Order: sequence, then C-alpha cells, then structure tokens
Amino acid sequence: MVKLTIDDKVVEAEEGWTILDAAIQAGIHIPTLCSHESLSRVGACRVCVVEIKPNGESNLTTACTYPVEAGLEVKTNSEKVMEARRLAVELLLAQRPHSAKIQKLAQKLSIEEPSFTLKERECILCELCVRACREIVGAEAITFIAQGKDRDIDEATVVHSLEKCIGCDSCAYVCPTEAITVEDIDDTRTISTPGDKLEFKLKKCKVCGKYWAPEKQLEYIIEKWNLEPEIFDTCPDCRD
Ligand code: SF4
Ligand code: FES
Repeated sequence: MVKLTIDDKVVEAEEGWTILDAAIQAGIHIPTLCSHESLSRVGACRVCVVEIKPNGESNLTTACTYPVEAGLEVKTNSEKVMEARRLAVELLLAQRPHSAKIQKLAQKLSIEEPSFTLKERECILCELCVRACREIVGAEAITFIAQGKDRDIDEATVVHSLEKCIGCDSCAYVCPTEAITVEDIDDTRTISTPGDKLEFKLKKCKVCGKYWAPEKQLEYIIEKWNLEPEIFDTCPDCRD
C-alpha cells in the first residue's frame, strides 16, 4: 500500500492504482469521460485533469492514467485544474454540442457554450469503442483512420471492419457522444457509425418467434466457448 494526499486527505492506495482509482476508493469525485472501470485507460479527453506536486513542482496530469506514488500531493479542483478542465470540456462541447454527457459535464462547470468554435464532429476520438471491442468483446473490429485528402488528424474517425464486427452493440453502449447507434427492425440490426452503416441478420426464437440477437454474434459466442449450436435456438425469455 502507498499513502498519498488528495485534496489534503491522506488516502491509501494499492501499488499500480491510478490517482483516479485512489480517489474513487476514497470517495473523492473526479469527473471523467473517456475512462471506464472495465477498460484500460488512455487519457484521451483530459476531463479528469488534476494538479500534482511530485517533486514540489506543480504539474497537470490526467488522474485516470497517472500511477499513485507514496507522498504524492494531488489537488482535484485547484484554480489551475479548473481552468484546464474547463478548456477540455469546452473543446469537447464545441466539437459535439448535442451530446448529453458532454452537456452534463459543461453544466457542472457552469459552461453555457464554448468560447470558441470548432468544426462539429460525431466522434471525439475517446477510444472507448475501440477498447471495449478489443478488451471485452475480443473482436478487434474497430480502428481509427484519418480521413480526407491530407489525412489530417482533425478528420480521424473510427472504422468498423465488416469482416470482424459481430454486431454486438458494445461500441454503441460505451460511446459517450451517440456517434455509434444501433437499431433493430424486424430481422435486421443496423449499426450506424460516423462513416458507415453495417447490417446484421437477427436470429429468430424457435418458441416465441421474436428476433433477438445477431446470428453472427451468437456464432462467435458458440465458437469461443465451444457451446452446442442449439443453445441459442430460443431467446433468453423462452429458456427454462
Ligand atoms: S465513436 Fe464514440 S466511443 Fe468511439 S471513439 Fe468516437 S466518441 Fe469515442
Ligand atoms: S477520463 Fe481521464 S483523460 Fe479522459
């Protein structure tokens, strides 16, 4: 265990934890957008910015990626932190003004609208979908690509591989900006991404006749867990 100070409170943390882990454990709130408890952290959004003094010198860092150290002093809401956090949220809001999650973050910081304009975009490159697909689903169907003739990073977006995607909808579930959406109509699931639409045939329940899950997803689970193919002939509601 290591001891550090967060907002003048002495906190105990396990080796390998991040500042965010230690803060959560101690009941100290740090806002986040691109971090999820079941996924690796990448520090993409900078909403969780905190001030640290590792050697007496003040620095800003992302709480979700910075590992705890014995004796580390952390401030989660100093003037410097609030200024940096406001900027991070303003940048996100300018890019995706209609995202409910970003609007909520902005409200908490009393930001009514960004003080600058940026080209609006659906995907804010938080990488949550990429990580969920790789680390939880194991399909590795989503990657980033740069679009446009100059392959400018401003035009980067996510791309689903039709070959690898199983249509499970985990990406839409974790996406904080509704850049990926899923719609099931009759026997077809459509996943809409910033640059594409993917369609998947849904499996029909032998008992009630309801279309309930993508056939490709069920085949993936059967193969991965070596299950009997008949196991998914019925939907969860019609199983014993
Ligand atoms: S599509 Fe959504 S989850 Fe994926 S990187 Fe973009 S904003 Fe994040
Ligand atoms: S939550 Fe830490 S950088 Fe996004």
